[in-house]
Formats: sequence, C-alpha cells, structure tokens
Amino acid sequence: MNQNLLSAQDYTDEQTFALEQQKLFSNTWHFCGLAEDLSQPNEYLTVQAGNNNLLVYRNEQGELNALHNICRHRGMQLVEGKGKLKRTISCPYHDWTYSQTGELKSMPKQKQDFEGIDKKCLSLKQAQAGIWRGMIWVHPDPKAIALAEFFAPMNQHLAPYEVEQLIEAKDYVIEETIHANWKLVVENYIDHYHLAQLHAGTLAMYDHHQAEFGFAGEHFYFWEPLTKDYHTDIAKNSPYPMLMDKDDMRLGAWVPMLFPCIGLAETESSWSVFQIIPLAVNKTKVVIRSKVKDCSMMEYLKQASSSYSYWQRKVKGKYQSYDETHALGSGDFMKEDIYVCEHLQKSLASPYFEFGPSASHGELPIREFQKRVLTWRS
Ligand code: FES
Ligand SMILES: [Fe+2]
Repeated sequence: MNQNLLSAQDYTDEQTFALEQQKLFSNTWHFCGLAEDLSQPNEYLTVQAGNNNLLVYRNEQGELNALHNICRHRGMQLVEGKGKLKRTISCPYHDWTYSQTGELKSMPKQKQDFEGIDKKCLSLKQAQAGIWRGMIWVHPDPKAIALAEFFAPMNQHLAPYEVEQLIEAKDYVIEETIHANWKLVVENYIDHYHLAQLHAGTLAMYDHHQAEFGFAGEHFYFWEPLTKDYHTDIAKNSPYPMLMDKDDMRLGAWVPMLFPCIGLAETESSWSVFQIIPLAVNKTKVVIRSKVKDCSMMEYLKQASSSYSYWQRKVKGKYQSYDETHALGSGDFMKEDIYVCEHLQKSLASPYFEFGPSASHGELPIREFQKRVLTWRS
C-alpha cells in the first residue's frame, strides 16, 4: 500500500510552518501578478516572498526590476502596496534616499553622524524579476535559477494559446480564506482521485478517466479532455467564446500546479491563475484571477445565451437532497473543495486521526508533491 509522506503535524505545527517560510517560500520564484499590473514605467508593487519583502517595478525606461524593500540603515520598509515610484526612493524613518536602481544617494546629517561612510556599500539588495506566460514573478536571490529555466519543463504541458492576448475578467476575481494548511489546498488541487467523486456533478464536462498527469521538474502537469457529450456541441455549449478551435482534438483543460503553490486552469474557453497564499499554519488565502477571449460584449452575450440551458441541466450538487446553501448542494466545485479542506484540517487535530493508504494512481501527485516539500524543507 502507498502511504502519505507527511504526518498530521506537518499541517498543524507552527514551527513547521516557519521552516517552510524560511526554506521554501524564501528561496523560490514567487507569483506577484499579471503582466498588465505593471504595464507603465515607474509602476511598482510589493510582495512578501517567504521572509522577504520585495519591491517589483518598471524603471523609467520601462524595464522590469526587483529590489529588497528594506532600508540599509535599520531595515524599515521603503514603500508599501502598489503605485508609482518617484525618481528616488526615500525611507520614511530617517530619510535615507536611494536612486531607482537602489544606490544610496543621501542621508540626513551625513557629515556629523556618518563621517567617512562609503555609500556605495549600502545599495539596496537586488532581487530578480521576470515575466513568464503573462505573469510577473520575483525571486529574492538575483543569482537563483533563471525564471525561464525554472518553468521550461512545463512549456509542453500548457494550453496552445497566448495568455498575453487574453483580457482579464476583472469582475470575476475570487478571494477566499480557507481554514486549512496551504499544503491541503495544494494536495486537493492535484488530487485526481477525487474528481469523479466529490465533483461528480460539478466537473462532469471533463473526462477524468482520460486524464494525463505527472511531474515536470518541480511542477505538476495535468490535462484532461472534454467528455464526448460536451465536445459534440461545444461551439454551442461553451460558456464563453472559445479559445481553441472546436475541432481541436486536444480540447480540454490543462490544470498544472506550479511549485510550490500557484495553480493554473487553462481551459478551452478561459484561463485562470489560482494563487495559494499561506497566512498561518491553519489559514490560507486563495485569489483567483481569470482571463477570457478579447472580443465584443455581444459575442459574450450570444455565447452565454446559447449555452445557458446546457449548464442549467449539467451542473448539480454532490448531494441533491442538500439545499444550495450547503457546499455539497451548491453545485460549485470550489465550495466543495473548501468544505473538504476545512474538514481535513479539523480532523488532523483529533488524537484518533491517522492517514489511511494513498491511491496508487489517483493520489500519486500528492505523494510526489510531498516528496518535493520535504526536499526543499531539509
Ligand atoms: S531605517 Fe531607513 S533611514 Fe533609518
Ligand atoms: Fe477539487
């Protein structure tokens, strides 16, 4: 029998959470938004990547850069949130002032208080930023593996369209706080075994038995085709204008999990990034941003009305005897997943809890993910 590689403690222990922040999240590529979030010169955003506070910005020439967002004097955060940088970056605490490239330019009372100081040794520390598949990524270490190299093994496992050419559906940003450890959320995302069970009524348009999945480098890849029934009338029943040709044999969903915890859902008609943000050992935030075809509102309305009756018929809750206010009666696969993750977390605290055997095929991704977490953490 196959067994899980992590123990209940790995999901409940504060020290383990701190160790993951230090070893894993502080040392890898970190998602920080869609490319269009920083489209103009001087625009910036700040992100927490593990224990690192980072500033990602476009300089005056429009090039993407990243610096550690901590002052070289006593470590005060320099800028917060997002916005537009001025020509210089000034620390709010004692007004040490840096150029946009991070060189220390001036400080109050330099002559009296810092005689002989070599400002060249006190530049802001560099980080590394880049764009991959229409998303902005940052790494705290400027010498770390290049972004393109880190994701190279995944390039053959993604949908055959250009994410950059889609437009964001800004009214459909989803934010959820889940009372569960971040690894339970990841494991649920990559668990093939539950798709035909928990989501029997909500993801019935994909043929889970034909799914192809595995790991490429650190990352999980996954593809499954549409069911025959859905494929036959896809041009009519797609909820949004299609991103692929209706006769394309690969029509389906690419649903990778980029290590450690950025999921993508690249389907025949929409693209989403599923950002998993660990807040505490038992609390995780999820932010989902989606993109669709860049076309007229008319085309959207036409597609929505032609597919309406199909979706009314097709999507059902797990238990139809439950009403819609219950996750298992909601007909919403995200609610089903959250319901499960929160109950798993609760069970981990029980002295009677022990992990049962792990499905050799359908839960292989979970064990492979756990292996990687253990390697990074050590
Ligand atoms: S901490 Fe920034 S100037 Fe003192
Ligand atoms: Fe799920």
